[in-house]
Order: sequence, then structure tokens, then C-alpha cells
Amino acid sequence: MILKKLAIASDNQPILIQGAMDMETNVLINALKSPKEVTIGSWTFWEGTIDNYPIVISRTEIGLANAAASTTLGIEKYEPRAIINQGTSGGHDPELYRGDIVIGATSLNMGAYKVQYSEKGQGIHPQNWDNFNVVMRLRKNGELVDHSHFAADPELLAHAMEYADDYQHGKVVKGVIGSADEWNREVDRINWFHNTFGTSVEEMETSSAALVAQAYEVPFIGIRILSNTDQHKQDFDPVTAKHSQEFVLDVVKGLIEKSS
Ligand code: 5AD
Repeated sequence: MILKKLAIASDNQPILIQGAMDMETNVLINALKSPKEVTIGSWTFWEGTIDNYPIVISRTEIGLANAAASTTLGIEKYEPRAIINQGTSGGHDPELYRGDIVIGATSLNMGAYKVQYSEKGQGIHPQNWDNFNVVMRLRKNGELVDHSHFAADPELLAHAMEYADDYQHGKVVKGVIGSADEWNREVDRINWFHNTFGTSVEEMETSSAALVAQAYEVPFIGIRILSNTDQHKQDFDPVTAKHSQEFVLDVVKGLIEKSS
């Protein structure tokens, strides 16, 4: 359906591509023809075209609140046909290495907790904490719906996976993106996330952008490269931010081509 929607060139609805930091947006901005910079509050957007198709690059800034705010602004201002949130992340799945890419079949807020009561002196037991589902109000009837996670748009997911074999810097897999205002480096905790929620990677924006996209019913996908993973003692490498953007550019150009 999204490809059909993308093919309607009569209106000007762009594809919105998000990255949190300059190093996660610079390659994308450079790929735009005639970029125009617009800042609202703390959040900057670059409007332009790629292969004559309207594209907006959004620098969300870091963290869940920034991601939600910039996604809301981006949707209200541009009514995008689709949103791609991309950038760096830390590895949870021991099968993944720095440079590998996770196409987020789902994302969740892994930092939302519900804790059972325990008495003074009983200690702190994060491994017993439950995840707190997100409750969202459906706009069609005001009904409240629980979300343990957000699913990617199936067409965007299938399309992005078509580029797996062409990627030169690692493997590309479908997976689960865990978001939180956290940077975890305790390997036991990382394994707990992986075993409890099935997280492939952690980062700080995707599930929040996904929530807002879901509220507006805009097709969404998160694409995250491993820039670091304590599963293999691999520290943050900024070149991965560039590789993520290059991969996403291929995905977007393919989307534009299919829709024309
Ligand atoms: N944990 C959390 N966030 C990470 N990021 C990259 N690696 C990690 C990690 N291991 C990303 C976040 C945020 C910025 C600090 O880097 O998404 O935007």
C-alpha cells in the first residue's frame, strides 16, 4: 500500500528520515538536492529532493522525549508518507557485531518499568522489574489500547530487507530495537534485556518515534547499525553512523524507484 501511496506524485508528501545527531544526519543532508533548513524549537529539518522525490531529513536530537517531539513536529508540518528512523546503537544479541544492521521488525520502550512493592532493607532487584506497556488512545473512537511494542510497516520491512545482500560492512538482520534513556554496559544486564525482551540492540529514540508515527498512522520503520557492542568488547566507531545513512539512502532510492 505504501508503494501505491508513494506513487501518487501529485501531492508533495515527503519521506521523512530521522537521525539523532549531526554524525547521523550529515550524509543524508549532503544527498539532498537544494536543501532548505528549517528549525522549530530545538529541532531542525532539511527539506529537499532525492531523485526528484521530496525528502525531509530530521535531526531529532538524543533521547525519547526529543524523538517524540521532533516526530510530532515532522508529521504535523510535512504529513510524511513514511518515516525511517536510523542511526547508531549498542549490541545486545551476541550474534551481532559492530557494523551489522538491525531492521526493526518491532521496537519497544525497554526503560519503562513497573516494580512490585518490597520492604525497606530488601534491596534493589532490576531483574525482577516488569516492563510498563504504553497506553495509547485510538483517534477513531478514543479507545485505550496497550502496546508492549510497535511493529514496523510490513512493506517497508520487506523492502529494506531486499538490500541485505548488497551491504558491505556486516550482515543485515530483522530484529527488535530496545529504546530507553539509558546506555547500558553491564553485560549481565544487556543479556537480561536480550533474554527478557528479545532485544537485538539498544538505542534512545526508535520506539518513541514509532509511538508517534502509530498515533498518526504513518508507516514507520527503524533501521539501526551496531556502533558498539559490549558482547564483543567493540567500542563506539563513528564510521558506522556513515554506513547506516548510506544503507538507508539505498533503501530510500529503491523505494522511490519502485514507486515511479
Ligand atoms: N546505548 C544507548 N544509545 C546508544 N546509541 C549508540 N549506541 C548506544 C548504546 N549502546 C545512540 C543513541 C543516542 C546516542 C547517544 O547514541 O540512540 O542517540
